Amino acid sequence: MTQGSINIAGLHIRLGEGTAALDAVRGLALAASPGEFLCILGPSGCGKSTLLGALAGHLQPHAGSVQVDGETVRGPGPERGLVFQQHTLFPWKSVLDNVAFGLKVRGVPRAERRARAQQLLQLVGLDGHAASYPTQLSGGMQQRVEIARVLINDPRVLLMDEPFAALDAQTRMKMQQLLLDVWARIRTTVVFITHDIDEALFLADRILVMSERPGRIVEEIRLDFPRPRRTDLVTTLDFVRLKRRCLELLHPQPAAPVLRYAT
Ligand SMILES: Nc1ncnc2c1ncn2[C@@H]1O[C@H](COP(=O)(O)OP(=O)(O)OP(=O)(O)O)[C@@H](O)[C@H]1O
Ligand SMILES: [Mg+2]
Repeated sequence: MTQGSINIAGLHIRLGEGTAALDAVRGLALAASPGEFLCILGPSGCGKSTLLGALAGHLQPHAGSVQVDGETVRGPGPERGLVFQQHTLFPWKSVLDNVAFGLKVRGVPRAERRARAQQLLQLVGLDGHAASYPTQLSGGMQQRVEIARVLINDPRVLLMDEPFAALDAQTRMKMQQLLLDVWARIRTTVVFITHDIDEALFLADRILVMSERPGRIVEEIRLDFPRPRRTDLVTTLDFVRLKRRCLELLHPQPAAPVLRYAT
């Protein structure tokens, strides 16, 4: 696998205008190998979505560089697919046409794009729902369509910004498993943002923890849990130990007060 490497160096992004301008990320460095699954954890407002926006090509750096496979990112492109928490499906198009849309834009003939969209619906376990409309699907199913419509472009990098945050706990666990099953087959590089420590520990090869704004990467945790991962992983001692470490990084506790008793 040679495609999907990421190199970010000295990234500085300013958002807003004039006196309202602020540094969202500053001095951020990150590298990912092709096919690696990275999860990013960090306090709210520390610049996680900003970082993803820069990788997607929606935000331009004030300083520093963002490269995918050695090429500087200058704008959005189908080789970098973005999935958000919010749904972006076209409500007036069928599930199949939503998934096929990326190929339509690129001028792929109708029969070919429909066949490819069917394959992707099968990959995300929705082959029986091609003719449905998005509003007829549950939240988890809609999110599977979102993933399929990005994967149809054969992205080298899959960018996910809290994609499962709006789902209930049970659906969320199913989606995590599904994502790992899909990733095991396509092995694209994934950059996945979450607030959920369990989710990050379950999914990632490596967790990167960001500082408060202006965000930069301050800690890296490598996860050697064997794959395929199954849900009982979350009950193992190693998992719990690493969870404690993430909690300490994200929610540092003040030293316990010394209690003094009158004698
Ligand atoms: N268009 C904008 N103009 C000015 N400031 C912005 C703009 N968009 C975001 N910000 C600010 O930039 C900072 C970083 O925002 P960002 O959305 O990247 O954080 P985040 O880590 O993704 O937060 P969350 O965990 O809440 O999703 C925040 O303080 C936010 O308020
Ligand atoms: Mg965000």
